[in-house]
Amino acid sequence: MVVLGEVFPNFEAESTEGHIRFHDFIRGSWCILLAHPSDFTPVCTTEMGAAAKMAPALLRRGVKMACISCDPVSSHKTWIEDIRAYNGLGSGPFPFPIISDEERQLAKKLGMIDPDEPRFDNKPATARAVFIIGPDLRLKLSMLYPGTTGRNFAEIQRIMESLLVTAKHKVVTPEQWQVGEKCFVVPFLSMEEAKDMFPAGVQVHPVPSGKQYLRTTPMPN
Ligand code: BEZ
Repeated sequence: MVVLGEVFPNFEAESTEGHIRFHDFIRGSWCILLAHPSDFTPVCTTEMGAAAKMAPALLRRGVKMACISCDPVSSHKTWIEDIRAYNGLGSGPFPFPIISDEERQLAKKLGMIDPDEPRFDNKPATARAVFIIGPDLRLKLSMLYPGTTGRNFAEIQRIMESLLVTAKHKVVTPEQWQVGEKCFVVPFLSMEEAKDMFPAGVQVHPVPSGKQYLRTTPMPN
């Protein structure tokens, strides 16, 4: 298992876009690495459609995507046509590579195999993992869902927006935060530092304790 803050393992694998050396693939970008249980399954087909729809806008902002499962590359390539058809995607190049982990080496290394998950061809399959890796190659976020339950890709996009703003500025984003909304100033800045750092203004929200930790500022650029 990789824990938050650790350098993400550098692996080599075949994909729908050829041989991938993962650290070279990231090369100074952010990366959202997704895993899905199996090609030609209904929930995964909906998820890949959602991922493909959000990928071009993220790429323009320096965020690459890649996906992985234990199916061979030939299967991924055929499945991509189903993903396009079911989700009404255009016919241009599929916006991210789908990696093959037939030997399940990565699935095991990254803790993505759940013994209770359904098996495909009598072999264990990957659960629905999300890893967000920073340009410094370190793991910034991970999520693990079972095969039964499709992920919310609007939430993954929201998380990515939060990671981008909080990596650049000393802010944190609250529950249900959406891009463009106010952020909280990190609690460990003094009031003077906060005012210097956020010229758009810092609003203190009074609470019974009298402690001034609820300080909002417009989302910094
Ligand atoms: C799916 O539809 O993606 C799925 C169905 C059963 C097990 C795992 C995945």
